Amino acid sequence: MGSSAEQDYDYSFKILLSGDSGVGKSSLVQSFISHFVDNNRPTLGTDFQIKYLTVGGKKLKLTIWDTAGQERFRTLTTSYYRGAHGIIMVYDVTRPETFTHLTDIWSKEVEQYSTNQDCIKILAGNKVDKESERKVTKEEASAFAKAKGYLCLECSAKTRQNVEKCFQDLAEKILQVPNLAEQAKNTSKPQPKPTQTAPPKDSGCCTIQ
Ligand code: GTP
Ligand code: MG
Repeated sequence: MGSSAEQDYDYSFKILLSGDSGVGKSSLVQSFISHFVDNNRPTLGTDFQIKYLTVGGKKLKLTIWDTAGQERFRTLTTSYYRGAHGIIMVYDVTRPETFTHLTDIWSKEVEQYSTNQDCIKILAGNKVDKESERKVTKEEASAFAKAKGYLCLECSAKTRQNVEKCFQDLAEKILQVPNLAEQAKNTSKPQPKPTQTAPPKDSGCCTIQ
């Protein structure tokens, strides 16, 4: 049982990141949580972090699952899609094959393994700080996102450009889907005690005649 402070959130969302190795998934999580990016090593299996966020007056607990992009972990990581409310699909704007893999492999995997039909997906083109090396245009990414019904943005874990926005937009959208919001509601949150107003003295409702 956690402390009341730990339980003081309205919704608990499961967020997952997927995409090729090296696109910057772990860096995005690190940039979002600690405003700092290291030279990350490839993730082995999966990792998770917790972050509290307030969106539209609602207190949210985000459990962020960072999966390994390396092929050898694929069978393990697919099991983590189960129950996800939001998925961030990351590619590297300087490596076109990471975008192609998203359209050809990752998006199919997400559809196959995520159990929430309404799960919100956001396409995130990372490393826009390397503009001179860009190989994937904004237009082709947004055309793919539009066709799939995904949100989309470009970001940089390094400069933090659009990093908060990525998680914020995703959370906002999840909140707007009644099915997902209902599922994610924190039922153990201590409810505020109803304020009691004493009935007027001569009110008939509680007076035994
Ligand atoms: P796996 O765990 O193997 O799936 O990789 P990953 O997607 O988690 O990539 P990771 O975050 O480990 O980043 C790979 C490399 O890209 C690291 O050297 C990062 O420092 C670098 N990197 C990540 N994000 C950015 C960014 O926005 N800009 C630049 N210039 N480099 C970045
Ligand atoms: Mg990683």
